[in-house]
Amino acid sequence: MKPVKVGLLGLGTVGGGTAVILKRNAEEIARRAGRGIEVDFIATLDASAATNLGIDNVRLTDDAFEVVNDPDIDVVVELIGGYSPAKELVLKAIENGKHVVTANKALIAIHGDEIFAKAQEKGVVVAFEAAIAGGIPIIKALREGLAANRIEWLAGIINGTGNFILTEMRDKGRNFDDVLAEAQALGYAEADPTFDVEGIDAAHKLTILSSIAFGIPLQFDKTYTEGISKITLEDVAYAEELGYRIKHLGVARRTEAGVEQRVHPTLIPKSRLIANVNGVMNAVLVKGDAVGATLYYGAGAGDEATGSAVIADIIDVARTLTTDPENRVPHLAFQPNELADIPVVSMDEVETAFYLRMTAKDEAGVLAEVTRILGDQNISIEAFIQKQPENEGDDVNIILLTHRVNEGDMNSALKQIEALDVIKDEIMRIRVEELS
Ligand code: HSE
Repeated sequence: MKPVKVGLLGLGTVGGGTAVILKRNAEEIARRAGRGIEVDFIATLDASAATNLGIDNVRLTDDAFEVVNDPDIDVVVELIGGYSPAKELVLKAIENGKHVVTANKALIAIHGDEIFAKAQEKGVVVAFEAAIAGGIPIIKALREGLAANRIEWLAGIINGTGNFILTEMRDKGRNFDDVLAEAQALGYAEADPTFDVEGIDAAHKLTILSSIAFGIPLQFDKTYTEGISKITLEDVAYAEELGYRIKHLGVARRTEAGVEQRVHPTLIPKSRLIANVNGVMNAVLVKGDAVGATLYYGAGAGDEATGSAVIADIIDVARTLTTDPENRVPHLAFQPNELADIPVVSMDEVETAFYLRMTAKDEAGVLAEVTRILGDQNISIEAFIQKQPENEGDDVNIILLTHRVNEGDMNSALKQIEALDVIKDEIMRIRVEELS
């Protein structure tokens, strides 16, 4: 059978990894796909990148639209990232009747509904396994492996850079900025690293996971997004002392009121497997009503790890080239006309336990005032730490772990506590999830 001709847009970290694996494992991949898969045309601004990777016998261009418009190309693999021109390129490829594989989570989270509608109209596939959790086949697992289940919740460490930073802070006491610089040098971080540290990258991924898990439209604007930039070394140490690890989690949960869709730093009991996912590794825990809890773990970023997911998609596309478009796996797991209008609930309605760290004047009655305000909001305290100040008269750190509370009630308590004269600065609060 004629080989499938691939047009690669971008030859950076993931593009390079993809091209190298396709060459190295060509025979094994052809045995699986039932035909050869060949990179035929590459769009890159750096022509020497192909030579450096040992990729030869390919056409090169610096104009990605040339690839998208080339009649010989069957599958366009978009690895440029970002919103534009990625969106225009993908839409043009679809219009030209080409299948698309992408690792672009931002594109899918924001423009996915439009892109999938267009793909459906044209009878082509847009595959995006590599967009989430690097090499972990989490889309495949959720969309196909768990198709029998009503998904109850999922929780994932889905940003490798953030996890790497938190791990290095905990294990080596390293400074936030140094670790971020290392993640950038290793090619893990986004072009704009604020996407990693402020949780935007994780929010893109969670938006997609939530849609696939619950059969709802992609709603990035409704995903609550908080990053790790305010986490301090002392928070990491206090969490350990309380028996927890701080992880940046994406959580999607079905509740009676709707769907919770949120990314934020989270304290998780140290004993949970997911609390022990370190460095750039990712993991996603999914709870289905029939299967129970399942955990997916692996490299969340990197050239060949992400390339592995890209190629799995290309192989899927190669196998479906001749199938009836009506019988393909739906892009978002549920049939497009079956997406449900379940609301995404506001954070005020979300219930979690909380870790609180506040700086207070070391004087009589402070703790009584704080606990009175919490008590008035029915917030019950589970654990408490107060360390003796180094010097008499210094401010003290008060650390509290609360039982589960509605976030709206917690916000109103924190406002009152912060208004006390004896409390300095903003109170640090981190949500706690038991994930049991
Ligand atoms: N910047 C992302 C991360 C890359 O660190 O997880 C993979 O999506």
